[in-house]
Amino acid sequence: MIISGGRIMKVMLVNGSPHEKGCTYTALNEISKTLKDEGIESTIFWIGNKPVSGCIACGSCRETGRCAIKTDDCVNSFLDAADEYDGFVFGTPVHYASASGNMVSFMDRIFFSGGRKLYLKPAASVESARRGGTTATFDMMNKYYFLAQMPVIPGGYWNMVHGNTPDEVMQDKEGLVNMRVIARNMAWFLRIKDAADKAGVPLPKAEKHEQTNFIR
Ligand SMILES: Cc1cc2nc3c(=O)[nH]c(=O)nc-3n(C[C@H](O)[C@H](O)[C@H](O)COP(=O)(O)O)c2cc1C
Repeated sequence: MIISGGRIMKVMLVNGSPHEKGCTYTALNEISKTLKDEGIESTIFWIGNKPVSGCIACGSCRETGRCAIKTDDCVNSFLDAADEYDGFVFGTPVHYASASGNMVSFMDRIFFSGGRKLYLKPAASVESARRGGTTATFDMMNKYYFLAQMPVIPGGYWNMVHGNTPDEVMQDKEGLVNMRVIARNMAWFLRIKDAADKAGVPLPKAEKHEQTNFIR
């Protein structure tokens, strides 16, 4: 087990599919099993299959740190739990060569309202598709992590599995290897972070924020 700050390190695995136990879950489950082998706990957090609203740009999260939209509280449930986790894997099925609509709404809102909770915590994404659109989805998912200054954890051959059913995903041997590589790299990075904390390595010095909106 990796103990940091008196507790076992934990990774949250977000399932952005409308299927609770579908292909995305199957890929995340492979990561979960490998993390366990590495002494790291994990939880699969399902965003559910009810419509998830997009961000309405009300800005109230800047004051409260929570999302004002209460009809689909997977966003606030995630924000409430996020502090307890040391790393994150965001999994999505590919819908029309993009992340699922619900997952895009979820990601927009958790990063807009809770980016500070994710700062410098490692992240990876997982894409599940029958056949195409995985690399486009991988690119769009990664953009969130760079903006939140989350170190991005790689798999061996991007981070995708192929299949239309969990059984088909289990036949994607190369995809499953990649899921295990993500888990092993995540564990290695968390060990490094823990060692750096214990050695007293300081966090990066903060820069003063400037926002210029491209008008000069
Ligand atoms: C609305 C919709 C759009 C889809 N678009 C694609 C696509 O662009 N490319 C693809 O390979 N599969 C596509 N699929 C199939 C799913 O990506 C695939 O079955 C996936 O593995 C399902 O994962 P899940 O069981 O976690 O939901 C689509 C499925 C749905 C429901």
